[in-house]
Amino acid sequence: MSDAPENKLDRLNELRSQALAGGGPEKIAKVHEKGRLTARERIHLLLDEGSFHETGVFVRHRSHEMGMDRFRPVGDGIVTGIGRVDGRQVYVFAQDFTVFGGSMSEANAQKISKLMDQALENGCPVIGLNDSGGARIQEGVRSLAGYAEIFWRNTMASGVVPQISAILGPCAGGAVYSPAITDFTLMVDKTSYMFVTGPNVIKMVTNEDVTFEELGGAKTHSTRSGVAHFMSASDQDCLLMVRRLLSFLPQNNLEEPPRIVPNDRPDRREEALNTLVPEDSRKPYDMHDVIRLVVDEGDFMEVQPLHAQNIICGFARLDGKPVGIVANQPKFQAGVLDIASSTKGARFVRTCDCFNVPLVVFEDVPGFLPGTDQEFGGIIKHGAKLLFAFSEATVPKLTVITRKAYGGAYDVMNSKHIRADYNVAWPGAELAVMGPEGAVNILFRQQIADSPDPEAERRRLVDEYNELYANPFIAAGLGYLDDVIEPAETRRHLIVALHNLRNKKQQLPPKKHGNIPL
Ligand code: HXC
Repeated sequence: MSDAPENKLDRLNELRSQALAGGGPEKIAKVHEKGRLTARERIHLLLDEGSFHETGVFVRHRSHEMGMDRFRPVGDGIVTGIGRVDGRQVYVFAQDFTVFGGSMSEANAQKISKLMDQALENGCPVIGLNDSGGARIQEGVRSLAGYAEIFWRNTMASGVVPQISAILGPCAGGAVYSPAITDFTLMVDKTSYMFVTGPNVIKMVTNEDVTFEELGGAKTHSTRSGVAHFMSASDQDCLLMVRRLLSFLPQNNLEEPPRIVPNDRPDRREEALNTLVPEDSRKPYDMHDVIRLVVDEGDFMEVQPLHAQNIICGFARLDGKPVGIVANQPKFQAGVLDIASSTKGARFVRTCDCFNVPLVVFEDVPGFLPGTDQEFGGIIKHGAKLLFAFSEATVPKLTVITRKAYGGAYDVMNSKHIRADYNVAWPGAELAVMGPEGAVNILFRQQIADSPDPEAERRRLVDEYNELYANPFIAAGLGYLDDVIEPAETRRHLIVALHNLRNKKQQLPPKKHGNIPL
C-alpha cells in the first residue's frame, strides 16, 4: 500500500465513516421501527448544536473467542465524548444497540471509564444514554469486570459531579446498578425496561407470569418501584428532560447551581394563597397549587411525580436561583409520611444537599402512617432516613408550615430543632403532638363517656384543644418559628430569607461518613 498522504486520509475517512455508520442501515432501521433513536441521533438531540467532540472513536474490542476476531467494528458499540448543554460542558456516553446490541465489552467499559475519569477531573456532569443487551456474552468475566469498573467510578463520582442515566432501551441484569447509583434515572414509556432478572428467569424460579413491560417498564419504575425519577413519551422528550434537569444543577459539588435572570417579581403577592387552605382541616387541597403560586413563573420540575404521591419533590427557582422543593401533599393520603414517601424525600434531600441546592419545605403532615404493613416494612428505619437527611443537610433550609405539623413528622419535616434556618407558619397552622380528635379521645375518654351529652362534650373539648394547642403561636412564642406570615407574602419571605442565607457555611463534625439507616 502506498504511503501517499491522500491514501492515509482515505483510510482515516473510511474508518471514521465506519464508526459513524454504527451497525449499518438495516440495524438502524430496526431500531427506528421500534420507536427508538440511534446513539448518535440521541447525542445530537441532547447536546448544543455542533458541540460534540468525540473520544475513543477508533477503539475496537480485542476478543478472539467465538469468531469475534472476524468482526471488530470501529467504536465497539459505544459512542463517548464531550459536549455542551446550554453552553456548559458535559461528558456523554451512548450505547449503540446496532452494534452487538450495545452490549458491554472490556473495550467498551474502558471507553466509559476513561470518560468518567475525565469528567471527575474536570468537574463536569456525566450523562449515560443506556440501550444495551447487558454484558457481552462472548467476553465473559472481562465484561463483568468492565461493569464493576464503572460501578466503582459511579460511586466515587457520587456527590462530586451530577450523574444522569437515561434508559432508552433494555437495561438488564447487573447493568441496572450503574443507573441505580447515579443521581437520576429517566425512562421512556414502552421502549425501555430495567430488571435484575427477566420474565423467563422469574417464571423458572418463582413460577410467576409477568411481561417485560409489567416487570420493568417505565410505568412500573415510575409508579411502583420508584427506580425511575422521570418518565417521558419518547427519546426526544427524554433528552429534553435531561437538558432541563441539568439547568437546576451545578457542574460539581464545589459550584453553586446556575442562576437565570428571572421573569417574575421577587415581591409578588399571591392573594389566592390566603384562601387556598380549606377552613375544615380534614379537607384536602393540592399542594402543587401552593408551589406553583410561590415559585418563579410557576415553573416546577417534579421528580418522581407518580411515585409516593403523598410527598412532592422537585426543582423550581426563586428569584432565578434553583431550589429543591419538598412538600407534603394533603390531596394524597392526607400527606401522611410512609415508607415510600420517606425514602423518596430522603433521597431528594440528599441529592440537593450534594449539589448545593437550597431546600424549601411546604409542610402539611398529619404524622406517620399507622399499620402493620408499615411497621413490618420498617417505617422506623425508613422514616429515620428522612430525619437523617434533613439533619445532615447543610444547604440553606427553609420551612413553611401551611397547616398541620403533627407529632414526630413535625420534627422530621425540616424543623428548627434539626437546624433549619428559616421556619415560618401560616396563621391557620396547627403544631401539636397529634390532631384534636385523637388527643381528646386519649385524654378525656372517660369524661366524654360520663357526660350527659357526650357529643357536645367532645366538641367542646376539641374546640378547647384547638384554641390551646392547634395554632402556630405557641411554637412562635418559643422561637421554634421565626415568623407567622400572611400566605400571600410567602414568596417574598422565602426570597429574602434565601438571600440572607446566600453565604451560609455549616460544617459537619469530622467523620468518614454518616451512617444513614438503610
Ligand atoms: C452479545 C448481544 C447481547 C449480549 C444482544 N446481543 N445482547 N450480543 N452480548 N448480551 C446481540 C444479539 O446477538 C443481536 O446480534 C443483536 O445484539 C440484537 O439483539 P436481538 O436479540 O436481535 O434484539 P432484540 O430482539 O431487540 O432483543 C434485545 C434483548 C436480547 C432482549 C436485549 O438481545 C437479549 O435478551 N439479550 C441478552 C440479554 C442478556 O441476558 N444479557 C445478559 C444480562 S446479565 P445480531 O448480530 O443478530 O444483530 C448482565 C450482567 C451484567 O448483563 C452484570 C454486571 C455486573
